[in-house]
Amino acid sequence: MSGAQSMPKELEAHDVLIIGSGAAGLTAALVLAEKCRVLVLAKGALDGGSTNWAQGGIAAVLDAGDTFDDHIRDTMIAGAGLNRRETVEFVIENAPAAIHRLSDLGVPFNAEAGSLHLTREGGHSHRRIVHVDDATGAAVQKALQKAASEHPNITLLPGRTCIDLITGRHEAARYSGSGRVWGVYALDEATGRVEAHTARATILATGGAGRVYQFSTAPRGATGDGIAMAWRAGARVSNMEMMQFHPTCLYNLDVKNFLITEAVRGEGGRLINPRTGKRFMEFYDAERLELAPRDIVARAIDSEIKKFGLDYVHLDISHMPADFVKGHFPNIYEKLIGLGIDMTTQPIPVVPAQHYTCGGVLIDLDGRTDLPGLYAAGECTESGLHGANRLASNSLLECFVFGDVAARDILRRWDSFDAPPPVRAWDESRVTDSDEEVVIKQNWTEIRRFMWNYVGIVRTNKRLERAAHRIRMLSGEVNDYYGHFRVTTDLIELRNLLQSAELIVRSARARHESRGLHYTLDYLQTDDVAVDTVIVP
Ligand code: FAD
Ligand code: SIN
Repeated sequence: MSGAQSMPKELEAHDVLIIGSGAAGLTAALVLAEKCRVLVLAKGALDGGSTNWAQGGIAAVLDAGDTFDDHIRDTMIAGAGLNRRETVEFVIENAPAAIHRLSDLGVPFNAEAGSLHLTREGGHSHRRIVHVDDATGAAVQKALQKAASEHPNITLLPGRTCIDLITGRHEAARYSGSGRVWGVYALDEATGRVEAHTARATILATGGAGRVYQFSTAPRGATGDGIAMAWRAGARVSNMEMMQFHPTCLYNLDVKNFLITEAVRGEGGRLINPRTGKRFMEFYDAERLELAPRDIVARAIDSEIKKFGLDYVHLDISHMPADFVKGHFPNIYEKLIGLGIDMTTQPIPVVPAQHYTCGGVLIDLDGRTDLPGLYAAGECTESGLHGANRLASNSLLECFVFGDVAARDILRRWDSFDAPPPVRAWDESRVTDSDEEVVIKQNWTEIRRFMWNYVGIVRTNKRLERAAHRIRMLSGEVNDYYGHFRVTTDLIELRNLLQSAELIVRSARARHESRGLHYTLDYLQTDDVAVDTVIVP
């Protein structure tokens, strides 16, 4: 858009709708707000997404000894060649600018002697992770949220659980049946009423689907809502079998999903088998040891646990000076001290847990999905950056780059976006209040359990078939429940969780090789040519 004169004089209440208030959603909102009025909806609290929980940092080439080519190579090696090179180059070359924008917004990145301090994580051939201690995400979320809440063109509406995208099917005057997206139906969590929010363009920035697994580092709301909504509306999704497991989640019977950042290994942490007392990574990746890409380290830990009948392995950084450990990992240190573990003198018990959804809604280099009027950015997408396995700290980066490009594409094409037509109100005439909430709880637990056991780190045809069978059985029950009862956040999430599970299993069954995060005992080979698993609705 060349300037204010190309904007219509009469702007509707909000020009652009963004679903999600994490790194991707708020980045897009701040760019759009220069020209448009933006509404941001979030399930629960504004800082309830994964962004707020990110620990390690953001990858960017900022050191004189590092190069874009090296970062690109590391990303493609971790991604086992499934990455789209064009996307990888684009994101990585835009990383330094993204970091500078965040610094300008006031993110207090750690610095040393006048330069940003760079830490190291698995799969990176250089130190290139900028960070704010060991709680980078919280600092980023705070800065983005502050800027968005102070912007007169941005309205932030937390407490809205979006249910389904509004498309041509929902137009009031006629049933166009088109896949043109006009906004979303959202549940007001406080009143229980369902509202229709319309806009000329909509951006999905709803994060991942990690909670489909019993053990996950992701927050409670990571139920794949955006992926499921886009799929139901007719958008393609891809590479959903590529679910990333982080090697080092704290093993604790009370605290189930506390991540121990990869930077602990980056700064010297060693993985030890508690039974033998020995380091074991040399048996799995003799060269890179604890700093091999995540899929390799997670599988190694899984293998040690199974081989020796262990509950966990040890992550030990107690050989480093205590001040160094406390200085680098102040939040983890405090959290562990509260649980009776002093990481400066003791090893930390860890297990792998689901961590990141590499697949998602298929987007192009402008953040566009298959559906006119619908964009997507961040963890809910498959942009081509991560391929078969995400390189550590490339995810926040993807959010900043794609949040920015999606917003800029909308501004550039503004004149082609019509004002939304009147749409039908949400129909509650045939539903009643739920009579058996226990059904929701039971199904949540069941899905997460069979996904962990059958569609986890190591897969087989038989396990995938078992999971598919259970998904078919639950689908009837969940759809029946959804059709008869008033929606609640739990029910909306259950429906999406099941849809996400179905997409993951279907994608996993379609890939007849082992590549990156998809490791199956029935197809141990990696094919010569890497092909995306694209699922068409
Ligand atoms: P999120 O930040 O997850 O935000 C999703 C938003 O969508 C939320 O506002 C949520 O409320 C909203 N939403 C979801 N469903 C609905 C709905 N139905 N209706 C309305 N709103 C909805 N990556 C890195 O690069 N570096 C790291 O150091 C790092 N550390 C991590 C540590 C942990 C513990 C975890 C879990 C992840 C980490 N990641 C890291 C990954 C990274 O944090 C995420 O991939 C990234 O923050 C995702 O951002 P996002 O904007 O796509 O989504
Ligand atoms: C971590 O700090 O280990 C998480 C980094 C990431 O997920 O990219």
